[in-house]
Amino acid sequence: MRLQIEDASVVFPAPKGAAPTEALQNIQLTINDGEFVVAIGASGCGKSTLLNLIAGFLAPTSGDILLDSDLVQGPGAERSVVFQNHALLPWLNVQENVAFGLMLQGVSKAKRYEISDRFIDLLGLQNFKKASTYNLSGGMQQRVGIARALACDPKLLLMDEPLGALDALTRERAQELILRVWEDTGKSVFFITHSVEEALFMGTQLIVMSPRPGRIAHRFDLPFSRQFLQGTPARSVKASQEFIALREKVLDIIFSDQEML
Ligand SMILES: Nc1ncnc2c1ncn2[C@@H]1O[C@H](COP(=O)(O)OP(=O)(O)O)[C@@H](O)[C@H]1O
Ligand SMILES: [Mg+2]
Repeated sequence: MRLQIEDASVVFPAPKGAAPTEALQNIQLTINDGEFVVAIGASGCGKSTLLNLIAGFLAPTSGDILLDSDLVQGPGAERSVVFQNHALLPWLNVQENVAFGLMLQGVSKAKRYEISDRFIDLLGLQNFKKASTYNLSGGMQQRVGIARALACDPKLLLMDEPLGALDALTRERAQELILRVWEDTGKSVFFITHSVEEALFMGTQLIVMSPRPGRIAHRFDLPFSRQFLQGTPARSVKASQEFIALREKVLDIIFSDQEML
């Protein structure tokens, strides 16, 4: 599956008396099968707007979003979203939350629990199936959110700062887990983060966005997640000369954008 954004712009209409917000301008982006595209950029540069376009929650003001050359006209089962604040349903347990999307699709109870148990295992939640989600740690709640998104078997997983609320150690563990799940399932991923280190470590392609109006200012191909999946420890990957050099370069870009505001 290939997702293509063809020259898309988004303008939000103005509240009374104010100027409209040009949130995205002339966005050109392709997400190929199995690719892990990471977007980074200052707050307000349009990252979530871009994700909403891909998800089909929002239509572009101009330009097109294409899925295998079909026009995207709304959300669809081949795209699934993991939100920053996990958005779990507190009255359902872990298993019921993971199976929720399948229930909406009308999948029978036995079948949806069979499918959701596979992703509960993959995310290491097998001992918490019947637990209330509000008793879980932030990292585990986020894993439930990822399992729920995967259970619907999307081709493209959309994640908006999914690890932003986690402490540093849990966050590094979660990065590694997401990469292993990505490798195991062969999904395409669009992933938003504020962390340059996370962006470089996770992606196969990095887009650096610049603010007002939001544009893709730089693109980088990234080798680091593959190095990790081929056996180099995460800390060694992140401590390599190549990694540090690119990290400084991306930080320079982001800081110089900030100064222009
Ligand atoms: N529904 C909306 N209506 C009006 N303005 C919006 C809306 N959503 C986002 N914006 C504006 O568009 C810009 C980009 O927002 P967003 O995509 O949320 O940025 P990011 O996720 O990079 O922080 C911001 O200036 C924001 O205030
Ligand atoms: Mg955002």
